[in-house]
Amino acid sequence: MSREMRVGVLASGRGSNFEALWNASEAGELGARIVCLASDNPESVALQRARDFGLPTCCVESSKRRGRLPREAESEIVTFLRSHAVDLVCLAGFMRIIGEALLEAFPGAILNIHPSLLPSFPGLDAQRQALEHGAKVSGCTVHLVDAGVDSGPIVLQAVVPVRDDDTAATLAARILEHEHEIYPRAVRLWAAGRLRVEGRRVLGADRETSRSRHIQEAKP
Ligand code: GAR
Repeated sequence: MSREMRVGVLASGRGSNFEALWNASEAGELGARIVCLASDNPESVALQRARDFGLPTCCVESSKRRGRLPREAESEIVTFLRSHAVDLVCLAGFMRIIGEALLEAFPGAILNIHPSLLPSFPGLDAQRQALEHGAKVSGCTVHLVDAGVDSGPIVLQAVVPVRDDDTAATLAARILEHEHEIYPRAVRLWAAGRLRVEGRRVLGADRETSRSRHIQEAKP
C-alpha cells in the first residue's frame, strides 16, 4: 500500500478553510493527513485551533503583515514543514506572496484557495472587487501556486451567482461554503496522484468538478 500523503497548512487568520481540511482529514475523507500548521500571525485563530487539535505548529514573526515574508522567515517555515515530512503544502488564508524558498522546496506541491473565479480578481478583497466590477457570477478557485499572485494553474473552481442585494460580506459568506467543499476535493485529487499538469492546464479533475453541484444556492 502506498504511503499516506502528509499535508502542512499555512494560515494567517480565521482558519475556516484549515478547519474544513482538518475535518475531512479526521473523517478519513482527504486521502491525506494534516500533520502541522505554520502561521505568520501569532493572533491567528487558525494557529489556536491547530494547537487545540494537538497539531505541531510554528509561527514566524515579521513586522510587515502583507507581501513577501523575509527569506529567513520563509526558510524557517520550510525547515518546519520538512521536519514533519510534508508532501503537500496547503495555503488556507495565508496572506503572503510565496517566495523562492517554499517554491523550491515544494515544486508542484503547494495549493491555494482564492475567493474568486481566477484569473479575475486576484489579490486582496476579491469578493469586493467582483461586486464593484459588477460581475454577475463569482466563486472560488483552488490552484497550484507559482511565483505570481494567484496566478498558478487552476485545479478546481466553483461558481457562485452574485445577487443584486449582495454586499461583499454576504457574497464572501456564500463563496466560503464552496471553498470548504472544493478545497478538500482538490487535496484528495492531488494526494491520489490524479492531477496532471500540461502547461497552464491541470487535467484529471473534470469528473470531480461535475460533482460539485450538490451545494444548492438558497433562493433569495
Ligand atoms: C478565504 O476566503 C480564502 O479564500 C481567502 O482568505 C479567506 C480565508 O478565510 N484567501 C485569499 O484571499 C488568498 N488570496 P479562512 O481563514 O476562514 O480560511
